[in-house]
Amino acid sequence: MLSEERNRTLTQVGPGTPMGELLRRYWMPIAGASELDARPTKAVRLLCEDLVLYKDKGGRYGLIDRHCPHRRADLSYGMVEDCGLRCNYHGWLFDEAGACREMPYDDIVDPASDLKVGVKVKAYPVRECAGLLFAYMGPAPVPPLPVYDALTWTNGWREVVTSDIPCNWLQCQENSCDPVHFEWMHDNWSARLKGSEALSAKHLKVAFEEFEHGFLYKRVREGQPEGSPFWTVGRVALWPIGFFLGQHFEWRVPVDDENTLSIAWFFARVPKGREPYVQKSVPTWKSPLTHPNGEWISSHVINQDILAWVGQGRIADRSKEYLSASDRGIVMMRKRYFDEIEKVRRGEDPKGVVRDEAAAACIVLPLADRAQFVEGLAIEDWPKDRLMSKRMRGHPWCYGQPDEVWADFASAMGIDPGLREEG
Ligand code: FES
Ligand SMILES: [Fe+2]
Repeated sequence: MLSEERNRTLTQVGPGTPMGELLRRYWMPIAGASELDARPTKAVRLLCEDLVLYKDKGGRYGLIDRHCPHRRADLSYGMVEDCGLRCNYHGWLFDEAGACREMPYDDIVDPASDLKVGVKVKAYPVRECAGLLFAYMGPAPVPPLPVYDALTWTNGWREVVTSDIPCNWLQCQENSCDPVHFEWMHDNWSARLKGSEALSAKHLKVAFEEFEHGFLYKRVREGQPEGSPFWTVGRVALWPIGFFLGQHFEWRVPVDDENTLSIAWFFARVPKGREPYVQKSVPTWKSPLTHPNGEWISSHVINQDILAWVGQGRIADRSKEYLSASDRGIVMMRKRYFDEIEKVRRGEDPKGVVRDEAAAACIVLPLADRAQFVEGLAIEDWPKDRLMSKRMRGHPWCYGQPDEVWADFASAMGIDPGLREEG
């Protein structure tokens, strides 16, 4: 349980708020790079700030104030140029550092004017990695982008899936350190939705440990030996807004206090023998949360999670909760957020910020079955594998994978696209 005041401290993310200041110390994924293929500008709201993301004709990414400093027009309707984004109202041109490069009419009537020098828009750096675009909204010096080793794996097919979630980011992130929900939400409730009252293996014990880049949760379920990697290695609640499960990452990106952008990145290694495989472009697609009749989608893993998070309320009222033995990881995470907020107040780098370029270039996260993703599995072994047996029949995590994305996946893997069971 948290007091209302402490709950506000953890959930408010605007500029100048304690958590907003902490989260601004980290690179955050904000979009799939392929989202800018069809249209090179995208309006985004991040940490309560309205911004526009763009890719100019020179291939540079920018993330700048949504509103033009001239007379406040919406720059998400701007025109990209060889260098920068031009406002569609009177043509002022801005580069990715926020500098005003041109004021077309003023440049004609008063070429010597230095008005431009004083006109700057808010601008944040953007980096592309593995089909994702990451932004850093904090103070200088900008730390290097932390590149997790999974993002550098080769011979794989990747995709980015986004969803707009109408609730605060923290209830989403607390789910990253919540092993028992797998048994109930994803196993038992899924069975019940299909008309079965069968119960899956019970959790017998859980453990939580902290490491530099987050927390590990470990579990023993009925019938599972203690030598299992679920107990010896565990899974990663990635600090401060992520979740890492080997074949995929999930990030819960705070849009504002009441909205979260879910960004999931998936990797599928081509079967052994299909190397080399180089993916031309990483597709990005949006997974819907509700059916056309308004009912929440409950058939896919991440859709189930989202349904739970939204059900906790727009901002979960933690003054009314009863934490129990399964919530020890959540208590550890909350304490860490409070402690790191204090570090930022003292002017120190908080947990997980890597300043060393070489160290940031390859961060290896704990993962039991890394060999499967690096070396691949023979296609004959897919039906016996926990993950790949599901992947060859569709997308178990997110509802609504477009047909062309499935077809591209099937072709990369060399599997029959007709195996899909997507409902
Ligand atoms: S409002 Fe943007 S150039 Fe005038
Ligand atoms: Fe889940």
